[in-house]
Amino acid sequence: MQIQLDTQPYASIQADALVTYVFDQENKLDGVLAEIDRAADGHLASLVAGGELSGKPLELVLVHFPGGLAAQRLLLVGAGKPAKFATSDLRKIAGTALRYLKSRGAKKLVFLPREGERGPEAAQAVVEGLLAADFESDKYRTEEKNSKEIQSVSLAGFHSGLGTNLAAAIEQGRVIGEAQTFARDLINEPSNRLTPRMLAERAEAMAREAGLTIDILDERKIAELKMGALIGVAQGSAEPPRVIVVRYTPENPRPGAPVLGLVGKAITFDTGGISIKPAANMEKMKYDMGGGATMLGVMRALAALKPAIPVIAVIPATENMPGGKAQKPGDVVVAMSGKTIEVINTDAEGRLILADGLCYARRLGATHLVDAATLTGAIEVALANVNVGAFGTPREYLDKFLESARAAGEKMWPMPLDDEYEEMIKSTIADIRNTGSGKGGGAVTAAWFLKEFAEDTPWVHLDIAATCWVDEGRLWLAKGPTGVALRSIVDFALKM
Ligand code: BES
Ligand code: MN
Ligand code: ZN
Repeated sequence: MQIQLDTQPYASIQADALVTYVFDQENKLDGVLAEIDRAADGHLASLVAGGELSGKPLELVLVHFPGGLAAQRLLLVGAGKPAKFATSDLRKIAGTALRYLKSRGAKKLVFLPREGERGPEAAQAVVEGLLAADFESDKYRTEEKNSKEIQSVSLAGFHSGLGTNLAAAIEQGRVIGEAQTFARDLINEPSNRLTPRMLAERAEAMAREAGLTIDILDERKIAELKMGALIGVAQGSAEPPRVIVVRYTPENPRPGAPVLGLVGKAITFDTGGISIKPAANMEKMKYDMGGGATMLGVMRALAALKPAIPVIAVIPATENMPGGKAQKPGDVVVAMSGKTIEVINTDAEGRLILADGLCYARRLGATHLVDAATLTGAIEVALANVNVGAFGTPREYLDKFLESARAAGEKMWPMPLDDEYEEMIKSTIADIRNTGSGKGGGAVTAAWFLKEFAEDTPWVHLDIAATCWVDEGRLWLAKGPTGVALRSIVDFALKM
């Protein structure tokens, strides 16, 4: 899909459809809508009067052969109440339009923003929304491959006064959109097509292409580093573990600049281990490497966007299997940091591999941490699949991150880490246990466990278990992997 700026007047651009949006309670059509309405002999005004064009969020009104436009169709997307509208909503609007028109065989689109959203930030959001919506996962289908394809989208009516700025924003949107596609492709891969070793190979290929430094730790190196928590999880599998370390270094690093450490959970399949999971829906545990894939996508984007600070991604990768050598409930392992962990439940494996991942990121010099993990089913109980659960300390660091999430249009909600929860992960025989005692708070006790390994380093933990994958398609996004958190982390790294 090509996306380009077009400086021609929107009305004269030949296309299968011109897309714009309508606010709720816009009984008065203004700006470009009034213009289009005039050219179309009051056609839009009559749709408004009839109640068919109301501007409710993501309402779709398709007008064929609109008078006054060179485009064959006019698609009007509802934008909701102006007071609730944010520029980041353009992602959903553009994405919804793309999916709707793609399914109807359109190939060439024009996107026309309204008067309030013609700057670089809006253009970037539109590009990201288009690329995210265009993603489809039919790699392993041999028949009925979807041949429908959007070939090009022209962005019309954006401010030309800021020419270079605008081009850079569109390029940034493309880089981020493509990085998200890269991550979603990985998340889609079944576990027989993406073992820890294969994930490491894919990371290597990406790093080579993007110009990033990469270091793959194999099982020998992992043992040498005494990553006992990761080893405990990996020992039940015939597939050896890997730790993927990807680095971005700015050309002229500022002395004393912060170093951002990104840690991503990459369980390429989670059976639960000896604490085995029920069969129903177990196939979905191929996406338990979503946090790791997200961090690889972030690095791919940062290689092009060149933040001012160094960034190190640490991705511990393993299967969680119940083999004959598997760790068993009650086992005690020694993490890389030296802390001892009583493994109450082998299905709480994500926090174990992240314990060593966080420790290693600090060892490599990370002064600030962000981790992403499909960590707990409990986060779905708390927040459903609407918000990512965001934990972190100190509070100002978490708040900074949440600002990035807002800018990136990704819903995240701050979760508590009160000291009271610490009691729940105390072990009777070791330093800590890997599940909370007592009822409830499963996502919080998991986060508390991680905090023990982030220690005093500023740290954000994103529990993406409920948001990394959607079972039902949305108007703006196909069902399957979402690539959530990638955009927020990229934004955060660029602003840091
Ligand atoms: N990978 C799972 C969490 C998960 C659940 C991800 C559903 C995506 C969808 C994680 O390793 C896990 O099994 N967590 C357990 C922890 C429990 C044993 C304390 C859970 O949430 O049930
Ligand atoms: Mn598990
Ligand atoms: Zn897991």
